[in-house]
Amino acid sequence: MAKIKTAIFPVGGLGTRFLPATKAMPKEMLPVVDKPLIQYAVEEAAEAGIEQFIFVTGRGKSAIEDHFDHSFELEYALRAHSKDEALEVTRAMMRTPGSVSYVRQQEPAGLGHAVWCARHLIQDEPVAVLLADDLINTGDAPGCLSQMVNTYDSEGVRGGNMVALMEVERSQTQSYGMISPGEERYIEESRLIEVKGLVEKPPPQEAPSRLAVVGRYIIEPGVFKELAAQERGAGGEVQLTDSLAKRVGQAPFQGLVFKGSRYDCGSKIGFLTANIAHALERPELSESLREWLRGQMASS
Ligand code: UTP
Repeated sequence: MAKIKTAIFPVGGLGTRFLPATKAMPKEMLPVVDKPLIQYAVEEAAEAGIEQFIFVTGRGKSAIEDHFDHSFELEYALRAHSKDEALEVTRAMMRTPGSVSYVRQQEPAGLGHAVWCARHLIQDEPVAVLLADDLINTGDAPGCLSQMVNTYDSEGVRGGNMVALMEVERSQTQSYGMISPGEERYIEESRLIEVKGLVEKPPPQEAPSRLAVVGRYIIEPGVFKELAAQERGAGGEVQLTDSLAKRVGQAPFQGLVFKGSRYDCGSKIGFLTANIAHALERPELSESLREWLRGQMASS
């Protein structure tokens, strides 16, 4: 099986849709129940076999670096009070020394710019890109990136580009990169769709399909060559979608319709529903939350 060893986590965005919460705190540190979004993404990557974790940060994002480092005062206090479980929670999330790197995106010029900022930290091989604000819950099934990695070495995919796909309403196409689908096939129950074109945030009447790209990618080195041009696209930003689109026909390109639920935690409604859905799965919370929700429904 192809081994994807490196993942890039672009966390340099401003998170303006979450102001004022994100004025002094990174959007990626917003918690879903009790875990920050970025930790869900890192855990998903680790489960998929990722060994090198590259964060593309920006000003005001130092909380992310602290989160993945030791907190000696906290650990000392937890040990002193015999809070062993809490101590284990803080320790279990530490990664192997030397496996986490940070590079600063000096201005939030777009996702394509953020990914390009990581170019000197990677080898000449395919890498994964995970957007933490797209929270993907796959329950007991493998995580979204694992599902992608598991099919990445198949005929017609190997060495190329892969994106995670989901179907959206036509009215929503302006919020996503949308694909032109080609041939469709199944590999071990995974639905793979050839990507014949990609367009960022098209209006509904111009969208080539209802298949939207969500924040999980495996990209090959050719994408970085395209990114080097740093051409501005939709919204005046350097879009990853535009460089991916240029690779159609140059390298294999497939979309995987992942199994699971995706929450757009960059939006308020996505963040709220993610919290409720995840809390309902937690044994210590679900009963009282259900009771409260029932009460709300009855009184509305
Ligand atoms: P978004 O498109 O959600 O943008 O980024 P944003 O700036 O974070 O949020 P809003 O729209 O202002 O509310 C998706 C992911 O890409 C990263 C973000 O940090 C987020 O994880 N990103 C975006 C960057 O790292 N750099 C950028 O220049 C833009």
